Amino acid sequence: MRKTMLPYGRQSISEDDIQAVVDVLRSDWLTTGPKVAEFEEALAARVGAKYAVAFSSGTAALHGAAFAAGLKPGDEAITSPLTFAATANCVLYQGARPVFADVSPDTLNLDPDRLAERITPNTRAVLPVDYAGHPADLDPILALAERHGLTVIEDACHALGAEYKGRRAGSIAHMSVFSFHPVKHVATGEGGMVTTDRADLAESLRRFRNHGISSDARTRQASGQWHYEMVLLGFNYRLTDVACALGISQLKKLEANLARRREIAARYTAALRNLRGVIAPSVRPDVNPAWHVYPIRVNSSQLKRDRAYVFRALRAENIGVNVHYIPVHLHPYYRDRFGYRGGEYPIAETAYEQLISLPMFHGMTEQDVEDVTAAVSKVSAA
Ligand SMILES: Cc1ncc(COP(=O)(O)O)c(C=O)c1O
Repeated sequence: MRKTMLPYGRQSISEDDIQAVVDVLRSDWLTTGPKVAEFEEALAARVGAKYAVAFSSGTAALHGAAFAAGLKPGDEAITSPLTFAATANCVLYQGARPVFADVSPDTLNLDPDRLAERITPNTRAVLPVDYAGHPADLDPILALAERHGLTVIEDACHALGAEYKGRRAGSIAHMSVFSFHPVKHVATGEGGMVTTDRADLAESLRRFRNHGISSDARTRQASGQWHYEMVLLGFNYRLTDVACALGISQLKKLEANLARRREIAARYTAALRNLRGVIAPSVRPDVNPAWHVYPIRVNSSQLKRDRAYVFRALRAENIGVNVHYIPVHLHPYYRDRFGYRGGEYPIAETAYEQLISLPMFHGMTEQDVEDVTAAVSKVSAA
């Protein structure tokens, strides 16, 4: 058994990351300075989008995207119940109503057929989630959106570097949202980004993150101007130059990071093949996932043990497993506000009862990977 707890996710910070941050601390700009545009351009180039707009978190970026999509009271936006609450909360921030549609049983991503059933004359946006880093089935979702005049906001917070039918997450939907929380592929502490090919959406996002003001302080300083205008009600959702310097440095290591995560996923999948009662996540043939997390499913009738038992047994082996996610509609806030009782989204709810995320981060050593596969093997045989 391991001596120390292996976390389910963790950042890797190297000397060049530290130096990049120190350099900014010695510069003139702590917040919106040259590093913001540099990080935005680097991320847009990596995902193949025309524009990228940095935000202070993935949650703030989702809020910006919900605003730019024009969500307002009376509107509905459809998303997956099997996600972090922030995906649905951004709809509420705009006074609109989040509506859920159940997931596909294999990928646990928004099922386009279930989505089609939930569209009403009030639907204005769809928020597919790339669960665990496996891209959502965007082609049929975009086709539905086209037919009904909807904006597609891809929650790609798990999926930096993922590919869908040879295209990169971040270049496909009308807007795509990324997070730079420490367990993600690129870490800036807190941080987020929206990518888009549309100039009007990028402009709207930029204003929204800066109080609704139509210019930024650095541009005004450079042009010797003091005058500015607030043209809409925005927020202070700016990402600092310090965070962006870290992001630029981290982004340089994305390819190695993805390669390592894919290697670990392949090792896990091979190990699980021989085990009874634990099921590896499925991968559709036309995608290349980014593996933010590696969610296994416990078949409790085969194993004669439930998920709670397996979870506790793995924690007892010092394997820091986690669960992604409690379906959003089952949280007390959503139950109280919208009257959910459970049973509304059976595929997501059944999956939730079975899911356990194994540790997955690029800094994992060979020994860490072996410790995980040995512990899963021991627990499933017990
Ligand atoms: C699917 C999903 N959406 C949104 C977020 C919110 O991102 P952040 O933590 O950067 O606000 C997360 C982060 O955990 C996430 O996993």
